[in-house]
Amino acid sequence: VPVSWEAEVDLVVIGGGVAGLTAARTASLRGLRVLILSKGGPTDTSTQYAQGGIAVVAPLGDSVDSHVHDTVEAGAGLCEVDAVRSIVEGGQAAVAALTDLGAVFDLGRDGQISRTREGGHSTRRIIHAGGDATGAEVQRALNAAGLPVLFGAAALRVVTGAEGVRGVIAVSDNGFGVVHTPAVLLATGGLGQLYALSTNPPGATGDGVALALWAGAAVADLEFVQFHPTVLYTPGGVGRRPLISEAVRGEGAILVDSEGTSVTAGHPRGDLAPRDVVSRAIAERMRALGTDHVFLDARAIEGFAQRFPTITASCLAAGIDPAAQLIPVAPAAHYQCGGVLTDTHGRTGVAGLYAAGEVARTGLHGANRLASNSLLEGLVVGERAGAAAAERVGVRARVEEIPSWTVEFAERSVVQQAMTAHASVVRDGAGLATARRRIDGAMSAVSLLDSATADAPAAARHLRRIEDASLTLTARALLGAASARTESRGCHTRSESPGVIEDQRHSTAVRLRPDGAL
Ligand code: FAD
Ligand code: SIN
Repeated sequence: VPVSWEAEVDLVVIGGGVAGLTAARTASLRGLRVLILSKGGPTDTSTQYAQGGIAVVAPLGDSVDSHVHDTVEAGAGLCEVDAVRSIVEGGQAAVAALTDLGAVFDLGRDGQISRTREGGHSTRRIIHAGGDATGAEVQRALNAAGLPVLFGAAALRVVTGAEGVRGVIAVSDNGFGVVHTPAVLLATGGLGQLYALSTNPPGATGDGVALALWAGAAVADLEFVQFHPTVLYTPGGVGRRPLISEAVRGEGAILVDSEGTSVTAGHPRGDLAPRDVVSRAIAERMRALGTDHVFLDARAIEGFAQRFPTITASCLAAGIDPAAQLIPVAPAAHYQCGGVLTDTHGRTGVAGLYAAGEVARTGLHGANRLASNSLLEGLVVGERAGAAAAERVGVRARVEEIPSWTVEFAERSVVQQAMTAHASVVRDGAGLATARRRIDGAMSAVSLLDSATADAPAAARHLRRIEDASLTLTARALLGAASARTESRGCHTRSESPGVIEDQRHSTAVRLRPDGAL
């Protein structure tokens, strides 16, 4: 295969969101030569869209124990408590490092950092920026750090040998490239594009899960996809939908159905119950009433437009004034709780392969992530993974030969329809099997590295193919995990088996077998 460009570094970071940039900064500060590959532009990340904030233990009336307790309770028996404690303990230092970089968080009238509350938290511990634009501020501060990013460069494959990682094959407008490196960090974000409606940007196509599986690493807990309960409802279409932050309920908004009745009455935490509980309550109410949305009543919140400027702008663009009208909302795919199996320093089972951020499964989230624990994890584990990669410096790594390589994929629309119809908030065994049959029946195979050319249309075609192949493999892994888990736990709900089954209180590691089976 002809290669148009080549580079050699100590660490390749795949992804330019909170986890990737934090890791890259740490590694650079330690003297590693780092290259970041980002298939989009500087703000084409989920990080950019984060609203509510970052969960960090508050100095007064809060404790690490309390944050750990809330996280573990939301995680429904599958959190790894040591991992939770370790990441929660790292929160304050991680935010201090971000502040040193220039990130500015909102202050209260007392001049102290202001904190809001979200679902599942027992106290106000969520720090935020720009009202409801926390992620944009985090992304801005990290982008301003001047790290070496190659935008528009998609990683297609991590190449490994007996001694672990050897390099990455990527494609950009300049054609195929190879980067020789002993260490690769997957920081590719989530998989929201598996579903027709999602809060995630278009690039959230599960690439990191697929890259890890192709490289021989294990994944776990993929069945736990978090559906955010309150995503702005607009009729028809597919793609990204604006989020109405949980902080809106944290500040007093209430969820009502089309008849004005509370949706979550009966749960001790009401509208601020963990989001799996709220999403399920909404899905059940919509089914009972035969509608496709409910409403958020935020009219009693004083100064809504000042506190929530991003949300106000999204609502106004859809013709809704949140100060005077009910906001129509419905659940949509939001967050992958599982992912590439790692320790709390981002190490996978493959030497030199690391993962951090949404793509990773550290044990923090268990069966359901607690609100605003994701930016926290990206900052804390990103920093640690960047430091851990130093252990690979000096390992000889060269991609001697670029292997020919066939990927299998189903068209994106087939995958999205199958997943949306059968693997959403509520699933059942028959539906999951139907989704697998639909996807298996729509597979094509293509040799990905056969037509290397240095022109922009070729790069776009290969990007589309790698995304479709990633979506397909991730969907297969997710459906397999969801079929195997015959209980309901966290954000995985099986209608035919509504309770937990005690002997399923464990995660299962899944790898890709040489014959392509999972
Ligand atoms: P991302 O920020 O998604 O970055 C992924 C990067 O990987 C991108 O640069 C992308 O281009 C790149 N990439 C992907 N595949 C490839 C490839 N093959 N080759 C090259 N580059 C690739 N969490 C909170 O804690 N608090 C919140 O308030 C909050 N609000 C949210 C609101 C919204 C609307 C959304 C969508 C999410 C929210 N989350 C929140 C979740 C949180 O924002 C994300 O989980 C987190 O930002 C993910 O960061 P990341 O670094 O892992 O990935
Ligand atoms: C929100 O603001 O509701 C999103 C918070 C999160 O996903 O953690």
